[in-house]
Amino acid sequence: MVKRMSKELKNVKILGTGRYVPEKIVTNDDLSKIVDTSDEWIYTRTGIRERRISEGENTSELSTKAALEAIKASEIAAEDIDLLIVATCTPDKFVPSTACLVQANIGAVNATCFDISAACTGFLYALNTAAQFIKSGQCKTALVIGAEVLSKILDWNDRATCVLFGDGAGAAILTASEEEGITSIYTKSDGVKGLVLNCEALEVRNPFTPLSERNNSFVSMEGGEVFKFAVKAMEESIENVLKSSGNSIDDIKLIVPHQANKRIIDTCVKRLKVDESKFYVNLHNYGNTSAASIPIAFDEVVKKGLIKRGDKVILVGFGGGLTWGAALISF
Ligand code: ACO
Repeated sequence: MVKRMSKELKNVKILGTGRYVPEKIVTNDDLSKIVDTSDEWIYTRTGIRERRISEGENTSELSTKAALEAIKASEIAAEDIDLLIVATCTPDKFVPSTACLVQANIGAVNATCFDISAACTGFLYALNTAAQFIKSGQCKTALVIGAEVLSKILDWNDRATCVLFGDGAGAAILTASEEEGITSIYTKSDGVKGLVLNCEALEVRNPFTPLSERNNSFVSMEGGEVFKFAVKAMEESIENVLKSSGNSIDDIKLIVPHQANKRIIDTCVKRLKVDESKFYVNLHNYGNTSAASIPIAFDEVVKKGLIKRGDKVILVGFGGGLTWGAALISF
């Protein structure tokens, strides 16, 4: 049944945030014992120093821990949540969804639950979806999670990819509000160029289909192509949410970008002609955690007190699909 929201509650506010990363730290030097690489190569090409790697916890477990922190920070009960979305490209299972697994873990008994697949842009897609549900009156309080155990889809013999990624989860609670919150949100996709960032799932195998060579389910990437796409996608997304909300870059306190590569962020800083301190960067600690990277970084920004209530923030990302987007939030 459609729940109607009272007229005044037409905005979508972020109530609180949370994050969780596995305890195990894997440094660039640790990786140089597994593949032919070095701290110098990885750091100068990407800005990454170390990443967190799961020692067995799956995506739903990382999600659950981040969710519990966000629920606590928001001072709500799990029963208050009526929508639960997990953005991930590394779910525990095909069925049930990661979101349903999290629902059972945290006791969000009143929530409608589903996963969203938009790779590294997943959190922004999930945020957009939740915001539309809230604005339409279908739900009042949403838990949005970005979570990945990318280490399970990496080829640990491929130095070109295994050094780039890490595991983790970030979460946010959204609620219908009188105050301004998510002011503008923009998402885009380009499936034609999708194969520059690829990971196979299962091939078609049944008694009626000839067997083919099995593809491995590992991430592959055309690094240079992704780099060019990423820079353009970030710039376009930031400009879009600024224009549609009537803001200028000077109105923005902080930009929280997807944490893939410091050189991509540096190039955006130059193209947008802003001070580099406007972009929050934590990828040296975590590597690229895909859908988890923006909510982990956003939670750090909140917990460190780098933004206060009312400050304007842009979350911006790009990823496999191809997908990209941004959200301008009055926190
Ligand atoms: N250690 C040492 N050498 C390496 C490593 C490594 N880990 N990886 C690759 N190399 C070697 C290559 O084999 C190659 O050697 P060769 O010249 O003898 O053939 C050489 O380094 C150069 O390889 P490139 O791939 O051309 O390296 P490049 O300078 O382009 O850097 C990188 C690669 C960092 C991936 C870069 O292309 C990039 O930043 N791309 C952006 C993509 C990105 O950040 N993706 C993250 C995930 S995608 C996402 O988040 C949506």
